[in-house]
Amino acid sequence: MDNRAIGVFDSGLGGLTAVKELHKILPNENIVYLGDTGRVPYGSRSRETIIKYAQQDIDFLIKKDIKMILAACGTVSSTLPREISSKLPVPYVDIVLPAAQEACAMSARGRIGVVGTNATLKSNAFGRAMRGIRSDIHVYGNPCPLLVHLVENGMIEPDNQITTLAVQMYLEPLIKEKIETLIVGCTHYPLLYETFNRILDYKVTLIDSGQCAAKAVRNTLLKNGMLSDRTEPGTTEYNVTDEIETFDKTASIFLGEPVTGAVNRIELL
Ligand code: DGL
Repeated sequence: MDNRAIGVFDSGLGGLTAVKELHKILPNENIVYLGDTGRVPYGSRSRETIIKYAQQDIDFLIKKDIKMILAACGTVSSTLPREISSKLPVPYVDIVLPAAQEACAMSARGRIGVVGTNATLKSNAFGRAMRGIRSDIHVYGNPCPLLVHLVENGMIEPDNQITTLAVQMYLEPLIKEKIETLIVGCTHYPLLYETFNRILDYKVTLIDSGQCAAKAVRNTLLKNGMLSDRTEPGTTEYNVTDEIETFDKTASIFLGEPVTGAVNRIELL
C-alpha cells in the first residue's frame, strides 16, 4: 500500500485526457499533474531538447514525492531513452507500449495506422514496439503537426471546417492503406475523436494511448502492491508553467469534468 500521489506530465494539457481515465479507474488515488504549457508543443523540437525538457518535468515530479510517473505525452514517450527512464527511483510508464499491445490485440489483419507529432513518428517507437509483439503487422504512420495547435486553440468542434480539412489531409493516406486500427499516439487528439470517426466513417478502431496508459498505471501499482488504501476520493493538483487565468475552462474540456483541485503556476529549473 502506498498513499503517495501518481505523477503525470505532458508538454501541455493533452495529458489531462489520461488523467480523465485515471479518475475513472483509480478514483481514490491522488494525482500531481504537470503541464509544461509555457513550452508546448514539444513535438517539433529536437531530440536533445525534448529529452532535456522531459528530465526537468520528471525532476519536478520526483521532488513532489510521487510514487510513480506516467509520461502522458506521445512525444516524450517515444523520445526519452530507456537508459534514463529505467533508472528513475520510481516506476515509470509511458503511452507507447500499452497502446502497441492493445493495437496488436485488436487488429485481426494487422494493418495498423499511427498518428502523432513529428518527433513521435520520426522515432518510429510505436512501430518498433508493435514489431516486438507481432511480426506479421503492417504499420502506416503519418505525422499530424497541425493538430496540437488546433486543439490548443479550441478548434475541436466536429463541424469546424479547418480542423476537418486538416484531419482529412492527415488520415487520407492511411485510409488508402486500408488500416483497420489507428493508434492515436498523441494525448491531445482524443478531443478530435468525433472528427476522426466521421472521416474514417466509423470503420477504424481508435486506440486511445492515454486510456491504455492509465490501465498500465493501475496494473503497475497493483503488481507492486502500491495502490492507495484511501476510501475517500483522491485529489488532483495541477501545475503549469504559463498563466493560469484560463486554466479551469480549458482543462475541464480535456478532463470532461470541472477542475476541483489546486492550480499552481510553477517554474522548471
Ligand atoms: N500531448 C503531446 C503528445 O502527446 C503534445 C505534443 C507536443 O507537445 O508537441 O505528443
